[in-house]
Amino acid sequence: MKYLRITLLLGLCSIIQPVLAQDNSTPLSSTELENYVGYSFIAAILILFIIALFVILRAVKVLSKAVLKSQGYTDEQITAELKPAKDKKAKEEVWLKLLSLKPMSEEKDLVMEHEFDGIQELDNPTPAWFMYLFYTTIIFGISYLLIYHVFDLAPLQYEEYRNEVKIADAAKKEFLSKAANRVDENTVKLTTDPTVLASGKAVFTQTCVPCHGANGQGGIGPNLTDDYWLHGSKINEIFKTVKYGVLAKGMPTWEKQLSPKQIADVANYVKSLHGTNPAGAKAPQGVKE
Ligand code: HEC
Repeated sequence: MKYLRITLLLGLCSIIQPVLAQDNSTPLSSTELENYVGYSFIAAILILFIIALFVILRAVKVLSKAVLKSQGYTDEQITAELKPAKDKKAKEEVWLKLLSLKPMSEEKDLVMEHEFDGIQELDNPTPAWFMYLFYTTIIFGISYLLIYHVFDLAPLQYEEYRNEVKIADAAKKEFLSKAANRVDENTVKLTTDPTVLASGKAVFTQTCVPCHGANGQGGIGPNLTDDYWLHGSKINEIFKTVKYGVLAKGMPTWEKQLSPKQIADVANYVKSLHGTNPAGAKAPQGVKE
């Protein structure tokens, strides 16, 4: 019965533990839930297994009792056979040895000479395990001091923290640059961010100037600074024009040469040119927007 109670208690603990440990403000995510269900299942099987073991043990006991009885043993003989009296003394001695304690009977040999107000002292040695623990803390302390503060062999916690932040920053930068490159004509956003415009201007100077002029005033290609547009003035329309080009009319596709981020940057740069009225502007083409 005692075993059964312990098993049930353990089972109960394992079932309510995740519920207690869980923070109410954050609901379980689906993977957490899967883990929870999985672990509960394993725990339930283990508990069933343990219960089965106890049942078998019990059955063996009952059976052996029946067999012994049929062979003419008395009840007392059977209980003596199945439950041998535990040697209490031996158990106590092991305990005393482990703690390096002397039994009460030897106390009179341990009393030290001095006495104060009837209080006497025993000469009981400190247990060996305690002394080992004590020496270990000394060795640990000295090693710690040497490693962390004298020879600087390992980073202290602030240094460790700064290193981790550095790594995380690099990972964040990489993630953001990748995310920026995933832009297309549907997700491109209009921005006046100076770094975006500067990068867009660099692309424009390198690839667009021969046809659209140094200031977007137009040449072979149309004026990009006026109110008139052939293919739309919205940021996603400009992105699309630049990305796919208008091959029949002499505007190349830039999908292959420029990255999505570069196209987005140059499209934003083109938007920033609107209304700048550069010298030598080409006559308007397209519809007023
Ligand atoms: C080889 C010459 C040439 C180059 C280089 C060129 N374009 Fe064009 N672009 C044109 C022509 C020609 C058109 C007009 C297409 C038409 O008539 O439909 C045009 C049209 C456009 C339009 C549409 C204008 C409107 O009115 O709708 C945009 C925006 C544009 N170009 C941006 C760029 C950008 C940005 C670059 C640099 C990455 C670039 N172009 C490079 C020739 C060029």
